[in-house]
Amino acid sequence: MRAIEFATYGGPDVLELREVPVPEPGPGQARVAVRAAGVNPLDWKLRSGAMSDVAPLAFPHRPGLEFAGVVDAVGDGAPVEVGDEVLGWSETGSYAEYALSSVLTRKPESLTWRDAAALPVAGEAALRGLRLLEVGAGDVLLIHGASGAVGALATQLAVARGATVIGTCGDSGTEFVRSLGATPVRYGDGLVERVREISPGVDAVLDAAGHGALPDSVELRGGTDRIVTLADPAAFGMGITFSGGEPGDQNSAVLRELVDQVASGRLRIRHARSYPLAEAARAHDDSATGHSGGKLTLDIG
Ligand SMILES: NC(=O)c1ccc[n+]([C@@H]2O[C@H](COP(=O)([O-])OP(=O)(O)OC[C@H]3O[C@@H](n4cnc5c(N)ncnc54)[C@H](OP(=O)(O)O)[C@@H]3O)[C@@H](O)[C@H]2O)c1
Repeated sequence: MRAIEFATYGGPDVLELREVPVPEPGPGQARVAVRAAGVNPLDWKLRSGAMSDVAPLAFPHRPGLEFAGVVDAVGDGAPVEVGDEVLGWSETGSYAEYALSSVLTRKPESLTWRDAAALPVAGEAALRGLRLLEVGAGDVLLIHGASGAVGALATQLAVARGATVIGTCGDSGTEFVRSLGATPVRYGDGLVERVREISPGVDAVLDAAGHGALPDSVELRGGTDRIVTLADPAAFGMGITFSGGEPGDQNSAVLRELVDQVASGRLRIRHARSYPLAEAARAHDDSATGHSGGKLTLDIG
């Protein structure tokens, strides 16, 4: 099968399209013929070596955390059957024609392959952030990066819970963030004042951007509680919660919740671009700009 792999840390040019053996499912695993794979900022952060201290890779490494596709083989006790259309987290890397997974769920027909492949990572992170912050009706929630893949899902989920959401974005994301039911505000210098023009204070902050907005967040909150960042390691020196997920957070119940919300039209995914497998390097380049304008996916198979 064809797969993207890399044998050393580096720029997008280390990504190679290789011919590799098709993996065999072990107990509890399904083998999935991948139709679409989600591209996440973590993919290029891991590739660059920037995270080698906290998450060292074994080489060759096959990137890709999430997939949508069709089950073509199962190990003993796998939770799905051959022929099922599924989405989930990959244990072998999803930038490939086949991937192994034990945390997956069935895909309703109404979801496209791209929708399904876009959901696990961003959706789980969004739900986790709101859970840690205990966001509920009446809260004023500031979301940094409301125009991004994670932030846009978190915005919709928070609005659905009855929260008032102020969402940061660049100029090109303003109308999109407004369409999600949030009040858009431009990120960057002067953010505190711009937010205060909308609301004198905020009850909670979810940072889904990771671009140095924690000091402003503390000022707006009047302290460090009810601030969660998914992306800014400065949190560790500030007494702020950084959430990278705990074992068990990525589970099939979360996938089913996300799938139900998309299938019922309560949650929508903003797709930016899709690329063939061989152009994974271009997808990494685009993701690393920080302004991809929505979810990036690879079309495979
Ligand atoms: N901890 C976890 O479990 C977890 C899980 C998933 C993702 N993440 C992290 O969360 C972050 C977002 O992921 P994603 O997939 O949503 O990425 P994304 O789709 O690329 O979104 C990036 C967001 O950051 C905003 N942004 C770009 N430059 C900015 C700046 N200078 N100041 C403020 N905001 C800026 C973008 O706004 P515009 O496009 O409008 O400019 C956009 O809203 C990444 O760092 C990722 O690694 C963490």
